[in-house]
Amino acid sequence: MTGTHSTTASHIETTERYAAHNYHPLPVVLAEGDGAWVVDVDGKRYLDCLAGYSALNFGHTNERLVAVAREQLGRLTLTSRAFFNDKLSGFAEALARLTGKDMILPMNSGAEAVETAIKVSRKWGYEVKGVPAGQATIITMEGNFHGRTTTIVSFSDDDVATSGYAPFTTGFRSVKYGDVEAIASAIDETTVAVLFEPIQGEGGVVTPPDGFLTDLRALCTERNVLMVADEIQSGLARSGKTFACDHEGVVPDIYIMGKALGGGIYPVSAIAADHEIMDVITPGSHGSTFGGNPLAAAIGTEVVAMLEEGTFQARSAEIGEQLLAGLTPLVGQGLSDIRVRGAWAGIDIDPALMTGRQMSEALMERGILAKDTHGATVRFAPPLVASDEDIDLLVTSVREILAAAA
Ligand SMILES: Cc1ncc(COP(=O)(O)O)c(C=O)c1O
Repeated sequence: MTGTHSTTASHIETTERYAAHNYHPLPVVLAEGDGAWVVDVDGKRYLDCLAGYSALNFGHTNERLVAVAREQLGRLTLTSRAFFNDKLSGFAEALARLTGKDMILPMNSGAEAVETAIKVSRKWGYEVKGVPAGQATIITMEGNFHGRTTTIVSFSDDDVATSGYAPFTTGFRSVKYGDVEAIASAIDETTVAVLFEPIQGEGGVVTPPDGFLTDLRALCTERNVLMVADEIQSGLARSGKTFACDHEGVVPDIYIMGKALGGGIYPVSAIAADHEIMDVITPGSHGSTFGGNPLAAAIGTEVVAMLEEGTFQARSAEIGEQLLAGLTPLVGQGLSDIRVRGAWAGIDIDPALMTGRQMSEALMERGILAKDTHGATVRFAPPLVASDEDIDLLVTSVREILAAAA
């Protein structure tokens, strides 16, 4: 199969030559996907344990979602919000129902939805809370990841994400993740919101201490500060519940959603909030050419319908139990720590054995795709359609790779 090998090499070479090097991909060129599995240009199959950073919660080429997208592609794809379209109404109603909020504001990428939440929070601060003009502050968490725009990287503490991009946007105060006392001390009369991930995905599936969400909810209510949950990666069934905030039965003031909202087919993001907050957005004060387009809305409506059935959340929880049972015995046997929430795991590898990148490469050799983060950590987020055998393959492979390196 020399011909196909050169196809892989040539795709990589051409991509590296003409596309900016903003990622450090594993050397695999994917051509097809079905459920939890993908196939490369050489015909080799891989279990996808990254799932598009959780955009593919429902699996590759999900039949229901592809059917809806195909149907809509042949009818109407873009109107702009200068006009109404016959799909946004149903999507807005469905997503408002799923979140329990009065309204949604649809955008495209996750970063745009985070930007939207920041703008809405600031405007709410000035118009409803009465913060003096131009002084709004938002409290953010150390180790956060909320996207890549200049404002969002302004409150990142990751040097790689920020280096060379100054000057940054002001108005953010960073505190230790999961530390409610630190948040309470950082709040003053200018504070409009606390922006946080209920589970820090890019940080390595970092979960806050038990009770954090409950305490943060109480604090935000008491101090009249918006609780803004970035559920772009943690939400929509990834953590075993519809939203990661559901693990403590907590409802934030603003939900930020993205990734799986577009079913892994199309970028769809949104924020959801009640009238008191969302009504600060008036005609002309915010917008997006593609936000709320009929193709996005059709796919998003089907995503909500699938989530309302509850089966993906239940399967995510089951996968989580299997991951926890399989990975726990490896702590002290090559892993220094593991964190599992639903079908979402972060493993910290003993740095004396190998790096996260080396683990990802070894897994790739065995037909499993996963991605390292922060040196020694690898995340697993398989599509929620993965079978017991798939998860078993993942756990067994990690165990064998660690044993071979010991
Ligand atoms: C929690 C969180 N917020 C925001 C984003 C940014 O989303 P996007 O890459 O679609 O802009 C991500 C992406 O990984 C994320 O994990």
